[in-house]
Amino acid sequence: MTSIVVQADRVKKLRNQYPWLYADEIDQVRGEPQAGEVVELEDTRGEFIARAFFNPHSHIAARILTYNAAEKINRAFFEARFAQALARRANAVAGTNARRLVHGEADQLPGLVVDQFADVIVVQFRNAGVEQFRKEILQALKKVFPARGAYERSDTQARREEGLDARVGLLYGAVPEEISIYEDDVQFLVNPQAGQKTGFYLDQRDNRRLLRAMVNDDARVLDVFSYTGGFSLHAAKAGARALAVDKDSSALQQLEVNAQRNQLGDRVGARWGDAEELLRILGDEKRRFTHIVLDPPTLAKHKNDVPPAKQLFTRLTAHALKLLEPDGILFLSTCAYHISVNDLIQVSRIAASDLARRARVVTVTYQPADHPWILQIPETLYLKTLVLRVE
Ligand SMILES: C[S@@+](CC[C@H](N)C(=O)[O-])C[C@H]1O[C@@H](n2cnc3c(N)ncnc32)[C@H](O)[C@@H]1O
Repeated sequence: MTSIVVQADRVKKLRNQYPWLYADEIDQVRGEPQAGEVVELEDTRGEFIARAFFNPHSHIAARILTYNAAEKINRAFFEARFAQALARRANAVAGTNARRLVHGEADQLPGLVVDQFADVIVVQFRNAGVEQFRKEILQALKKVFPARGAYERSDTQARREEGLDARVGLLYGAVPEEISIYEDDVQFLVNPQAGQKTGFYLDQRDNRRLLRAMVNDDARVLDVFSYTGGFSLHAAKAGARALAVDKDSSALQQLEVNAQRNQLGDRVGARWGDAEELLRILGDEKRRFTHIVLDPPTLAKHKNDVPPAKQLFTRLTAHALKLLEPDGILFLSTCAYHISVNDLIQVSRIAASDLARRARVVTVTYQPADHPWILQIPETLYLKTLVLRVE
């Protein structure tokens, strides 16, 4: 097997469970490993550190699969990892038939994401390594997560950065265009073939429940960046009226269908357009809300996107605060690893101070248990939400 000698001062971070070796941390490449090949990482004395996927085209040159020298990367390896992922989730998520089964590095399966929607699974192969083991992975998936069908949504930015083309389509079995899932007593139709990402934002489940617990018949909820209406429908189910805003017209169509299916059509409205512009228009219309959710897409994919992303967050928050009734609740979410809870605190402090509105922190929440995060891998913590009560 080809091997990668790791620079002496980088060995400790790998042994401490950080799974990525960057291209500029390589001391020497022995052999000519190709993109996606499994290599052995060793220290300068030739001692085994870990077995990893290699990619010479990526700035993350190696992604660790196992620290166990006896463990080979084959179908049995993937079966064992899937079984561990399943066991990890045994009591993690209740009240739904939709959950994340495999969450990449956090399940020691770099670049692999698997979501379950009822009896269907949706898979993303995000790097050249998992791409090489496609056959073994599919065999292992069938064994550990029996499903009526599997659909591939490997059309991620990460994959392009690995030098791979997008791949989308049926993997095996049958996958209907629309799958009915539930979160508590709210039904959603999910379309993994045409929806965003794998079809549904499973990671906001706990926050949707939190919002629901905070509203009653008198609540007027503004759900900004609504997608297919997750927050709106949960709030409406508790008696609130909700207005959803998104620029994805097919997501809003799906939202309307979802609202009808839950007999909530008279409580949920939708406005198509750019969030910032619509927030401004709603202000001009003198609309007011008791609860506002801001759940934008990943505004900062890279570190240098952070300053403009924070500026946009500040503007969005300021617009939202102008629409918020006294004693209103604001949910401010970021799914960008590069934007921290402190960044959220800072942008909302600036926005609230400019308007002289005193804001109390109700709570800070993180991604749910089926999207685990590993202490030694900061990148696995991506979803953070600041919940404020604003006087
Ligand atoms: C993280 S998802 C929201 C998930 C949603 N809150 C849920 O619970 O399912 C972000 C959403 O923002 C929408 N979006 C992106 N840019 C936008 C913009 N400039 N204006 C309005 N919506 C936008 C996307 O279409 C996507 O539906």
